[in-house]
Amino acid sequence: MTPLLCSAPAKVNLALEVQGVLPGGYHELDTVFCWLDLEDLLDVRPSAKTELVIQDEIGQGAEVVANEENLVMKALRGLEDLVDRELPTRLHLIKRIPAGGGLGGGSADAAAALLGVTRAHRLPLQPADLLKLAARLGADVAFGLQGGTARGRGRGELLSPLPSPPDLPVILLVPPFPLSTPEVYSCWDRLPAEVRRAGRGSAERVVAALSRGLPQDLLRSTGNDLEVAAEALRPELSDLRRRMLEAGCAQARLCGSGSTLFGLLEPGSDPEPVATRLKGLGRVLCTRFRRSPR
Ligand code: C5P
Repeated sequence: MTPLLCSAPAKVNLALEVQGVLPGGYHELDTVFCWLDLEDLLDVRPSAKTELVIQDEIGQGAEVVANEENLVMKALRGLEDLVDRELPTRLHLIKRIPAGGGLGGGSADAAAALLGVTRAHRLPLQPADLLKLAARLGADVAFGLQGGTARGRGRGELLSPLPSPPDLPVILLVPPFPLSTPEVYSCWDRLPAEVRRAGRGSAERVVAALSRGLPQDLLRSTGNDLEVAAEALRPELSDLRRRMLEAGCAQARLCGSGSTLFGLLEPGSDPEPVATRLKGLGRVLCTRFRRSPR
């Protein structure tokens, strides 16, 4: 039984189209996920008893809790159910991805736990077993298993790999307020039909831009249907998005269901002056796309 250090990268959605409501209330998506070079780390060690320790490296306080509600623990419990025995494990989670921001940190942590616990305890599970469990834990967890760049359909768990994006600087602006994913989706449900598909066509455009590999194509292609809903709940977000464009981002979009915004810069440009202009509006992070899958 081996200790393991597992990477749990954040993601952005280069495209996010909401295509309808599925039985059970989830929404049918056509989305393009892409990993960022910003990650949580999960150290997984078989041990005498199970414990989860969180090392909060970015001062998030009470937002990330080390109890059974944490998706890392749910992943461990899901594996225990699957193999029908206890898997006592010390899980040490180093948190660097802001929580509640649409960057998929909790889902990434859950995916890292599924892979790490499976390997550390040498469980005889197939990738399909992990995918099924991942989809039960959350819509974005399946992507966390595979990573890289991928199109997600269904609830986001039906994945097909895509070419990596060009190497562009990415700026994240994390506003001082989180948004609740279910609230953003239910706000989208109430939007008039003529405004709720602002991102229509973005998934096809992004897929085409990725296969051509031209940065300018990608900069023109992104879209997110949840932006209008998030901006209806938090009107400040449309102002923040405008401020990102004024500060020098070539494109600015909501990450998933928000509240984080991501800005894309022209290839080769220096993100530091842009980040400096955004200081005071929220937490600002400079990153890039992570251009390799697991
Ligand atoms: O699956 P996850 O826990 O990430 O989803 C959180 C919430 O977001 C769900 O309870 C649901 O309200 C909403 N959601 C949705 N359709 C999706 C993904 C998430 O309605 N495809």
